[in-house]
Amino acid sequence: MKAISEYTSDVETLLRDIELPGEKFAGLTDPIRYALSAGGKRLRPVMTLMAAEAFGGDAMRAADAAVGLEIFHNFTLLHDDVMDKSEVRRGRPSVHARFGVNSAILSGDTMLTLASIYINKVEDLQLRRVNDIFNNMALDVYKGQQLDMDFETRDDVTLADYIEMISLKTGALLGAALQIGAVIGGASDKDAGKMYEFGMNVGLAFQIQDDWLDTFGDSITFGKPIGGDIANNKKTYLRLAVGESSGADAGALKMAMTIPDREMKIKTVTRIYEKAGVGDMCRKAVDAYMSKALGALRSTSLDDDRKDTFRRLAEKLVGRKK
Ligand code: IPE
Ligand code: IPE
Ligand code: MG
Ligand code: MG
Ligand code: MG
Repeated sequence: MKAISEYTSDVETLLRDIELPGEKFAGLTDPIRYALSAGGKRLRPVMTLMAAEAFGGDAMRAADAAVGLEIFHNFTLLHDDVMDKSEVRRGRPSVHARFGVNSAILSGDTMLTLASIYINKVEDLQLRRVNDIFNNMALDVYKGQQLDMDFETRDDVTLADYIEMISLKTGALLGAALQIGAVIGGASDKDAGKMYEFGMNVGLAFQIQDDWLDTFGDSITFGKPIGGDIANNKKTYLRLAVGESSGADAGALKMAMTIPDREMKIKTVTRIYEKAGVGDMCRKAVDAYMSKALGALRSTSLDDDRKDTFRRLAEKLVGRKK
């Protein structure tokens, strides 16, 4: 298998070549080009290409599916930034901040359909299977996003509810990216299912890390402003782990969440998190989901070299700063 960075540059090349509606529809396509050219880690399509190759296929046979999944991911980000009132992504104005909310909605819709068009280019023999995985995953993401919104105004959210929510909004797509690649590469159903499980658990670790970075990351490196989750009253891993801890921190946190001034609220909550040792809590949770992920990876029929490449990818992601 190639180095991870080589798959990433393959994805960049593929994304540069995608076909978009013509000149006349610049209002629709400019935001799409803007979103797809902004960098991003390209994690999901890389996973798809790697899985296809690992199970014996040519990575490029999964190229269309990989492109479709990255377009889908970016579609979710256009709408997510509207829902989360996030003005900055990947170090520059988010699509709705730059082009307006209507553009983020309509260009997002267009990207969802483009994603389907790319998924539908998969070879006939595997198409039905891949389409099923793709569509079920998409429904999961919407369900997860709905729970994420519902939880903003709920006070009774448990850690178990949170894990369900992130398994839907984030884990499902990482799982599907690997499963689809595996199917295209010719994996058995069992192996493809194990790859989904691997991706799902990496996704849980990845989202917990994302939650941590939202409060403790460096905004320049992370590419997103710090504190948005606190300001939006998001039920993040940090919030629930400290909220469910016994002692004074949980009570102080509840009070701090009612502070009306945005900056004061972020500062106060961050201090409570630090005092409660939330960094350690997150690290432990990330490690636990990583172990689960690696367990699933180990139980595939891949040889040790290939398992090692996926393990390195997973470790790179959860140790990320961006
Ligand atoms: C952002 O995903 C949304 C989450 C699931 C946290 P990424 O962190 O993979 O975003 P990009 O594509 O690399 O910018
Ligand atoms: C990401 O959740 C989930 C999806 C976009 C589906 P977040 O809202 O935490 O993602 P960021 O932090 O805005 O990238
Ligand atoms: Mg969100
Ligand atoms: Mg968001
Ligand atoms: Mg986030």
